[in-house]
Amino acid sequence: MKNTVILGAQWGDEGKGKIVDLLAENYDAIVRFQGGNNAGHTLVIEDKVYKLHLVPSGILYPGKKCILGNGMVIDPQVLLQEIEALQERGVDCKNLFISDRAHVIMPYHKVWETLEENLRGKQKIGTTKRGIGPCYADKITRIGIRMLDLVNPEVLKQKLSDIVPFKKQLIQAFGGENDSISENEIYESYSNYGKALQERIVDTSALLEKIDASGGRILFEGAQGMFLGIDHGTYPFVTSSNTVASQASIGAGVSMKKIHKVMGVIKAYTTRVGGGPFPTEIEGGVGEELRKAGKEFGTTTGRPRRCGWLDLEMLKYVHRLNGLDAVVLTKLDVLKGIHPIKVCLGYEYQGQRLESYPSDTRILDSVNPIYEELDGWEEDISRCLSFADLPLNCKKYVQRIEEFSGVPVEIISVGPERDRTIFREL
Ligand code: IMP
Repeated sequence: MKNTVILGAQWGDEGKGKIVDLLAENYDAIVRFQGGNNAGHTLVIEDKVYKLHLVPSGILYPGKKCILGNGMVIDPQVLLQEIEALQERGVDCKNLFISDRAHVIMPYHKVWETLEENLRGKQKIGTTKRGIGPCYADKITRIGIRMLDLVNPEVLKQKLSDIVPFKKQLIQAFGGENDSISENEIYESYSNYGKALQERIVDTSALLEKIDASGGRILFEGAQGMFLGIDHGTYPFVTSSNTVASQASIGAGVSMKKIHKVMGVIKAYTTRVGGGPFPTEIEGGVGEELRKAGKEFGTTTGRPRRCGWLDLEMLKYVHRLNGLDAVVLTKLDVLKGIHPIKVCLGYEYQGQRLESYPSDTRILDSVNPIYEELDGWEEDISRCLSFADLPLNCKKYVQRIEEFSGVPVEIISVGPERDRTIFREL
């Protein structure tokens, strides 16, 4: 199949970075289509660890086109730092392109986000404080700055003179510190970012069309996870972009008919960073064991991740919205030594089994997960190279996921390195 979307099927941090990096070998372009530097991907190649926030995980293959699509929000300062850090380690970034339509994260977005979180009181989302939400809000209210504005100094100047005084007043009205927001300083630094990035700022939709027309394969790299999506996630405890496969079309600027395969990535258990409902969360005990064994601390913010059992009711919903062709199961090795292993097969609310994933977070907060218990395994599976090598109970765990969801598990990750991966011929 030619073009593929990889999406997170939980609350992010499913290990998509490693999978995109692995699959990228067989694609010509790797495209991000939503989010910004709220994402964090850790790649382990030989003995080197790479932490990426904006640059697509395909960057480590020379010659692949890596694209930041129009659906993203980009902090140019962070992007330049990331490019510099990669180049210092010998990674060639000349094939990195940025959509001229992508929106730009500005200093006032970050200041505003902190104020907004404070205004939420007990309903704090626990955002990454990277300015993601306020930048998307400006996009929707049509006062955003786009990448193409950074390379048109006159336009940038004009827009800043319209927007910055308004933002300063707003910040001041809500008790925020606005001294650091200077129109001139923003103009200086952002026009310099524009100069540094100008060769890369192009119409990436047109570029993708060319790649596709010449027979090239495109890999669309989702960030966050479906349950952090603005429309279908656990609103309001979500990020500000859509994280479903159909967003790949909008956020990369390609026709839906150019998407041929959708792969959903799940971790063998569930994690979540920040606030919001999490029906299968385990506080203490096994939850703590999973956090330690799975090194569950955020790549972007370093926060400890909340941990819980695998929730197949979530996977069922992901399949409904995305039409999954395959599941990628990661961190299966982390479950070693846990007995029994529970999987959630649905929710009970006020004594009744719910028919589908609830839209109301208040309901999600008080559902009782319906669990099935499976036997665990003691073996270290991180050296298993094929499905046949896995212990029997481990195979049963994988098969239960397939049976319940109706989707084949095509790839199993049993360790962070590239070679700790089982590809199944299905
Ligand atoms: P924001 O994207 O910074 O607005 O944060 C909104 C919510 O999404 C918070 O709960 C974050 O912790 C969460 N979030 C955003 N990006 C990621 C990610 O890449 N992995 C996991 N959680 C994320």
